[in-house]
Amino acid sequence: MTGTRTQPVDQQTTSGDAAQGQTATLPAHDVADLDLAAEGVRRIEWAEREMPVLRIIRQRFERERPLDGLRIGACLHVTTETANLMRTLAAGGAHVALCASNPLSTRDDVAAALVAQYGISTFARRGADRDTYYAHIGAVVDIRPQLTMDDGCDLVSMLHRTRREELAGVLAGTEETTTGVIRLRAMAVDGALEFPVVAVNAARTKHLFDNRYGTGQSTVDGILRATNILLAGRKVVVAGYGWVGRGIASRFRGMGSLVAIVEVDPIPALEALMDGYQVMSSLEAADWGDVFVTATGNLNIFRAEHFRRMHDGAILANSGHFDAELELGALREMCGGRLREVRRDVQEYDLGDRRLYVLGEGRLVNLAAAEGHPASVMDMSFANQALAAEYVAGHHAELEPRVYPVPAEIDREVARLKLEALGVTIDTMTPEQERYATSWQEGT
Ligand SMILES: NC(=O)c1ccc[n+]([C@@H]2O[C@H](COP(=O)([O-])OP(=O)(O)OC[C@H]3O[C@@H](n4cnc5c(N)ncnc54)[C@H](O)[C@@H]3O)[C@@H](O)[C@H]2O)c1
Repeated sequence: MTGTRTQPVDQQTTSGDAAQGQTATLPAHDVADLDLAAEGVRRIEWAEREMPVLRIIRQRFERERPLDGLRIGACLHVTTETANLMRTLAAGGAHVALCASNPLSTRDDVAAALVAQYGISTFARRGADRDTYYAHIGAVVDIRPQLTMDDGCDLVSMLHRTRREELAGVLAGTEETTTGVIRLRAMAVDGALEFPVVAVNAARTKHLFDNRYGTGQSTVDGILRATNILLAGRKVVVAGYGWVGRGIASRFRGMGSLVAIVEVDPIPALEALMDGYQVMSSLEAADWGDVFVTATGNLNIFRAEHFRRMHDGAILANSGHFDAELELGALREMCGGRLREVRRDVQEYDLGDRRLYVLGEGRLVNLAAAEGHPASVMDMSFANQALAAEYVAGHHAELEPRVYPVPAEIDREVARLKLEALGVTIDTMTPEQERYATSWQEGT
């Protein structure tokens, strides 16, 4: 890890914020280029304009300091929105160390700004190789986090696999995404999970908006930035009709694409059909589609048998959490080394008679080729993160080592604050309606 400073966390500058400017002592870090900090600050402030709920929480945290002295280890996509979450946690009094949850989603200017302007210990470089990626997670574990904040469970995995000596000090954690929650639930069932974790993804103000509208829009954005293709009339196959798949399908349809859904669960498959999409098997879809987008959280959705059927020029992208949804090993074998980058984030696999194009090396395309979710939607996801952190800081002693939902009061409060920030007023039930809705005695 080049450029790493290794001051102990309690000697680092953790209170610095934009107003305080460059600090004399920088926190421990490994980022690509600190000279990018000024650009990062501008973009973080731009994102903040769209994050009113998080801003309200940050202002309260500044007054109340609910995380005072708590060491938080975070493994999240290092984006402008995450930077605003880190500022919120620091405002609450926490000592925070951040690493990336995916090597291609890191914004180097944001990482630089976090270190140089906001005094947050950050270990993230865009395009980091596997060893560096895990060394960065290790650097976060080195602060001996009392609270973990994960997106995909890599930090929790490291603590449970190779750094077990630090487990005793962890009070609780939070997890951002579907895939991470699935891994945590599996750990809890095996009796392997050692501390309680709140599944932020379970909050309705997270998955209904972030997974659906955030990923939907930003996936289209990533595919467009990478390829600049016309979407109208294009045949798009979406694998997985969960919250992410629903969002992606509806946004492509909005752009005039013909959309087909591939599923393994009959219920979302039926729902997709009644939502007006074609539903077909993955092999039929391989013959049919021009663009293939995976969003299942599962593995090897498109494999050699599919690649053999896809037509010349087919484009493949993934929006699921891990780069395991396209079987790229098989594709590499099939092209016998005839592989080249034809545009930024577009790799051409030459199969002899046909060429297939993979975007962002099969990693989440909305982060690899675009900027991830718009800040406005991350406002709600990260408001849940900040309030869930406050909740576990206060309640960890009452919780068992298993996966908990975000408390319903937090979920509703996030929605209420968002509506208020958007200037939208809604009704409250009249006393008569309240009685009617809660009584079993009132009939028709
Ligand atoms: N790109 C992003 O920014 C982003 C944001 C949120 C979530 N995610 C990730 O996206 C993935 C999906 O999340 P979600 O919230 O929609 O999950 P979900 O559980 O709601 O939906 C997944 C769907 O995929 C289907 N599926 C599973 N295996 C399949 C297979 N072999 N073929 C076809 N369909 C299959 C399931 O039946 C389910 O309906 C997860 O990995 C999640 O972590 C990514």
